[in-house]
Amino acid sequence: MSQLRIAAVGDVHLGEDLRGRYRSRLSGIEEKADVLLLAGDLTRHGTLEEGEVVAEEFRDLPVPVVAVLGNHDHHSDKPAEIATMLKDAGISVLHDDAVVLDVKGVRLGVVGGKGFGGGFAGKCASEFGEPEIKAFVNHTKRIADRWRVALKELQADRRVVLSHYSPVNDTLAGEPLEIYPFLGSYLLAEAVDSEGADLILHGHAHMGTEKGMTPGGIRVRNVALPVLGRAYGVYCLGEDGEDPDHC
Ligand SMILES: [Fe+2]
Ligand SMILES: [Fe+2]
Repeated sequence: MSQLRIAAVGDVHLGEDLRGRYRSRLSGIEEKADVLLLAGDLTRHGTLEEGEVVAEEFRDLPVPVVAVLGNHDHHSDKPAEIATMLKDAGISVLHDDAVVLDVKGVRLGVVGGKGFGGGFAGKCASEFGEPEIKAFVNHTKRIADRWRVALKELQADRRVVLSHYSPVNDTLAGEPLEIYPFLGSYLLAEAVDSEGADLILHGHAHMGTEKGMTPGGIRVRNVALPVLGRAYGVYCLGEDGEDPDHC
């Protein structure tokens, strides 16, 4: 099976002042990667004007582009409109579902969505007390359940999960401990571990750490732009034993 090179970045937080600026950083991407995954927080405040900038920056690239939205992209209550703009620009947008791409004859399945918070095993919110807390935890549970179903039904040779929120706390190292419950949830990792995947990519934790792993041993990479410090990271899906972070 051919080696696949997965480029990924999140938290580009584009606005009018960056129009044309990110695009120039993507030139030649087809020589380094086979696909580009965007891990949410593509805008600053989720406005339609910012959504339009994102659509233009990532339109008609020489590699397929798959995106999820982040919490910032929801801030103006226009996530559906922004998703439509991105789809009109040829970008696949996941909402707790899957897309399968044919990349060099390999079926690459990408599953995911925004994800949500709640915290990590032993130090997490639970469905107890006020309806607002129950709704918060339930939102994450429903998302994790949808990812479990999407992964179970996925017919692909390689499986990548794309999220905005983090499934593990390893990749949050550097963030204040007090905000961990708002940065991700162990329920996301539990869902992916139960069905299996080759790689999980997320953003959201700007001050976090690039590399982590789920309890089930799946590689997790925090691809938030401030963490990577470059336009995108490239991760390999190849034969067992190959260095996954050096294509
Ligand atoms: Fe962000
Ligand atoms: Fe975020």
